[in-house]
Amino acid sequence: MSKKILVTGGMGYIGSHTVVELQKSGYRAVILDNLSNSQPGILELITRITGVKPEFVNLDMTNQQGLNAFFHNHPDIKGVIHFAAYKAVGESVEKPLMYYHNNLGSLVNLLACMQEHPAASHLVFSSSCTVYGQPENLPVDEQAPVVPAISPYGNTKQISEEIIEDTCRSNALLTAISLRYFNPIGAHESGLLGELPLGVPNNLVPYITQTAIGKRNKLTIFGNDYNTPDGTCIRDYIHVSDLARAHVVAMERMLKKDNKKAHEVFNLGTGTGYSVLEAVQSFERSAGVKLNWGFSARRPGDVEKVWADTQFANEELGWKAEKGLDEMMSTAWSWEVNLNEGLMG
Ligand code: WQD
Repeated sequence: MSKKILVTGGMGYIGSHTVVELQKSGYRAVILDNLSNSQPGILELITRITGVKPEFVNLDMTNQQGLNAFFHNHPDIKGVIHFAAYKAVGESVEKPLMYYHNNLGSLVNLLACMQEHPAASHLVFSSSCTVYGQPENLPVDEQAPVVPAISPYGNTKQISEEIIEDTCRSNALLTAISLRYFNPIGAHESGLLGELPLGVPNNLVPYITQTAIGKRNKLTIFGNDYNTPDGTCIRDYIHVSDLARAHVVAMERMLKKDNKKAHEVFNLGTGTGYSVLEAVQSFERSAGVKLNWGFSARRPGDVEKVWADTQFANEELGWKAEKGLDEMMSTAWSWEVNLNEGLMG
């Protein structure tokens, strides 16, 4: 019987793509999600892609009793990939307690359950390059200092890594890998799965595709006076499927006991930075659509430029991002077109 892996937040953007990659690699995925940032229809789309319907349990992970009962009913879980968290930077500034309660409370409950149920002793954690802030040196590697977070969201990622570190140190059975994402974008190559931002998108690429499809009137580029070649911010955009694949590789590393430390940390990027203007030009080229955009003042809290040193992940994890920016943009556009034609009803 194939190994069962729990994917918390598996109905979300990166979580659902990771469920697809897990199933492609022969694992049984069970999804825990409270649907606070997703829609039930995602389950059907995953099934259409892989032909296998994942088990789905609608549960809020801050419900410790419910989570304990879930683990009691699933004694065959071999590992956990943990996505379930709130992730809107701006919202976290307005509602810090909601973020600390949800993101940290869920993680503490999960780790307590994993200690109670040692069969599920491997954790892959969804972290973020926001822990680096504006790095001194670029590309940024895993040894770069973690700087005081500029948002409660970013702080929950830093504190979560520390909680995981301490728990792994105190529990010989527990191993973990924290994956520090750069900027996940794009959609599954089938056009049947992608990002579903609730309300007005905070992130660049969904705002681009919604502007191109006519849902938004105009893209605003936040600032063109940065110390970069064209004055706009630079980011390391990575295709969501490349990112999802890294989660399977990380889980397999621990299942095979190839991990070198109880808690390892890897940067997940492409190693190439692109400016906002270059991202817009890539979209227009890939989608064949002219975008309506204009400049505005900088967005508070934005890092000027950041891209990953991927050497450790490439060599130690044995994983490398494969898709280029144009392909990321063309898949994002296909998904937006399919949504607009009623894919999600
Ligand atoms: C990218 C660039 C904006 C929107 C955040 C989180 C990170 C992760 C990804 C969760 C920036 C510019 C954006 C727009 C714009 N979140 N932009 N107009 O801020 O790099 O990262 O999202 O996992 O942890 O910090 O991503 O897509 O919001 O912005 O000009 O309408 O696009 O200023 O330079 P960001 P982003």
